[in-house]
Amino acid sequence: MRFTVAIDGPAAAGKGTISRAVAERFGFAHLDTGALYRAVGVKGGDPVEAARALCPADLARDDLRTGEAGQAASKVAAIPEVRAALVQFQRAFARREGGAVLDGRDIGTVICPDAEVKLFVTASAEVRAHRRWLELGGDERAVLADVRERDARDMGRADAPLRPAEDALVLDTSEMSIDAAVAAACDLIEARLR
Ligand code: DC
Repeated sequence: MRFTVAIDGPAAAGKGTISRAVAERFGFAHLDTGALYRAVGVKGGDPVEAARALCPADLARDDLRTGEAGQAASKVAAIPEVRAALVQFQRAFARREGGAVLDGRDIGTVICPDAEVKLFVTASAEVRAHRRWLELGGDERAVLADVRERDARDMGRADAPLRPAEDALVLDTSEMSIDAAVAAACDLIEARLR
């Protein structure tokens, strides 16, 4: 069976948690596409070369989850040649047998416009910054500034900007528990699988 679930949204909206839960529940493979951009961002050197030469060891680095890696990822993600170098890998992953969940910024709009299920997971910047702060610590106001800066860059870039696909279900998790968001995602997938 080929079945693709596209989960997009801004930083720290809950995409990762929902994607992992959905993948586990349905036995689908999961690709965190933000990790690809993070790996390119932290590698240094020419980002286009880094994207073209990306290998599994780059994705296994343990410094990919830091705030700095997130900012570096957002910057290299605005370069069209970097995005182009990563398209084929993501599309091949999406069409693998057994089903796949991909989370990112442009999965429903650019990478998999024909995905069977599309979700756009969002939350207020304050709620997202608070979640990121619980995860990473530091100064919460600085985390909020970081989230806002990344949102503006990801939504404002010319190539594949962050926005919901027209046929995406928008889930605002500001006042929703993660369990409720996972349940909504699972209901939608079950309805499409029937
Ligand atoms: O989801 P994340 O926070 O790990 O993503 C890090 C950055 O990578 C994000 O700020 C923008 C970029 N990104 C992107 O442009 N397209 C994607 N599909 C995934 C991430």
